[in-house]
Amino acid sequence: MTFRWEVGLSQKVCKESSLWWKKTVVYQIYPRSFYDSNKDGIGDLPGIINKLDYLNDLGVETLWISPFFAGPGKDFGYDVTDYFNVSKDYGNLEDCFKLIREVHRRKMKIVFDLVLNHTSDQHPWFLESKSSKDNSKRDYYVWRKGKKNDGQTPPNNWKSMVGGSGWHYDKSTNEWYWSQFLPFQPDLNYRNPEVREKMLGVLRFWLDQGVDGFRLDIINALFEDESLRDNPFSFKYLPSEDHPAQFFQEAKYSLNQEETLSFMKDVRSLVDGYRKPERFTVGEVMYAGMDTLKGFTGDDNSGLHLVFLFQSLDLPLRCKEVAGLLRQYEKTFKEPNIPTLVFGNHDRFRRASKLGKKDNIAKAKLNALLQLTARGVPFIYQGEEVGMLNHHLPYYSSHDPFAKKYKLVPQFIFDLLRRLYHFSVNRDECRTPMQWDDEVHGGFCSKSVKPWLPLSKEHKIRNVKVQEKDPQSLLSNYKKLLKLRKFLPQLCEGREEIIENKDNKNILILKRYTDSEDAILIIFNFSEKFQILKIDPLYRSIFSTQKDISSNVFGPWEGKILVEKSSAFGIEKKMRLSLR
Ligand code: GLC
Repeated sequence: MTFRWEVGLSQKVCKESSLWWKKTVVYQIYPRSFYDSNKDGIGDLPGIINKLDYLNDLGVETLWISPFFAGPGKDFGYDVTDYFNVSKDYGNLEDCFKLIREVHRRKMKIVFDLVLNHTSDQHPWFLESKSSKDNSKRDYYVWRKGKKNDGQTPPNNWKSMVGGSGWHYDKSTNEWYWSQFLPFQPDLNYRNPEVREKMLGVLRFWLDQGVDGFRLDIINALFEDESLRDNPFSFKYLPSEDHPAQFFQEAKYSLNQEETLSFMKDVRSLVDGYRKPERFTVGEVMYAGMDTLKGFTGDDNSGLHLVFLFQSLDLPLRCKEVAGLLRQYEKTFKEPNIPTLVFGNHDRFRRASKLGKKDNIAKAKLNALLQLTARGVPFIYQGEEVGMLNHHLPYYSSHDPFAKKYKLVPQFIFDLLRRLYHFSVNRDECRTPMQWDDEVHGGFCSKSVKPWLPLSKEHKIRNVKVQEKDPQSLLSNYKKLLKLRKFLPQLCEGREEIIENKDNKNILILKRYTDSEDAILIIFNFSEKFQILKIDPLYRSIFSTQKDISSNVFGPWEGKILVEKSSAFGIEKKMRLSLR
């Protein structure tokens, strides 16, 4: 029997804290690499439908699907030519509607990934816009005259997020267009009310089809300074998670503009107009500090529902750092806000590869415990549940357009960055196919075809089929935790206390509680040594990331969930039934 948690069930009043999207766990699917149903080596929408039972059984409730809309696919979906249609690589509209239906039939939710900032340069709007200065679509994009030398110098000094000037010269009209990402992804002009209306129309269309929310791509790049003031100098060459300055430049006038924040309010009120169920948005705000991030949710909570917090991507599994970050989240994202808990995605170095070779799986389990028990909305990237690693691939033969941009840089420089900072310019490495089994191509596609990216040898062990059979595997650990969230409301909507132990710097305790439920304790041993703790005799362990010896003995990198003895038996019984 599989136990399902009905969203909103038995709630007397729909309190702010009990909105379904605040309690959910999101699982990101990168369609190209999830499951290939039609033997072309590329994952597709019918492939996702095929695996819905797996996801349902895993226990995730919300699926975020990376873009599959029509487009040339140079950035694999992040370059759209038709927001109302599906790329042939991934299926057709009927498959898309079926996917929505099938997700809902399982009482799960589905979130689409919208690229509002830019279109493909092959979008009919851009083709028109480019055709002449007085075309009706000219003002759909950001065009400007160049400076000096007969307009042959870019309009200002702005650099794009991917490096180099973000201005691109168009010979036929002797003007430059702006693109925050790659040159084939021209930025839409959000100062044009017609553009804003058209893009809100995209949201409306998919909301009307029943989509439960949106992930909004590089949303902090929508507006640019109106008078195109030059960006000031910065000493920083590489951006950091909490600051966008890079390539010796602040992004003062090209990112995070006031007008973007105010447009987020329009997005919010449109989305909040849809009820039963409520819908939500989560914004990708690249390289931003806590205050900027918070700004996107609006001072009075009238902006985006959620923003990704990427600060956790490189979080060391150490008590001080984990406690510090969680405290920052608590301070900035108090109710009615809620933080997000993110450890990877289709752009970033896989978390399991950052945890070091030694005790890798034990640490990955502890990391999962943290992600699924701290206050916040967890986002799991496909494959994290089996510990998929970044697959080291030569970037010069990459498919990723970002890596292609740097193809003249010697490989050893990137290898160094990889080793020192766990940074890979080649995003193919974290996009290799999902590892379903230990067969050729990991069960991602038929043995007779070549997958679009090769799988690592690790797929022999780090795969669904092998780990499903092992109750101690990382996958089983995820499953148990995801089930527990359904029985312990404290984990999904409870308040949080972060407790450090003065006498033992390796131990962190999270206390989660609601007004009506007993407090539960989540205890982490962030060390490779055994730790023996004094535990309140009122409490008993009901979950461990390792083989539980006893409630007060913690093995290396072990984490446990403790509940009051009086309720432990009931929860364990429910768990046994649900995991059967
Ligand atoms: C976001 C996406 C990334 C894409 C870029 C341009 O960062 O996550 O994959 O290449 O935006 O759309």
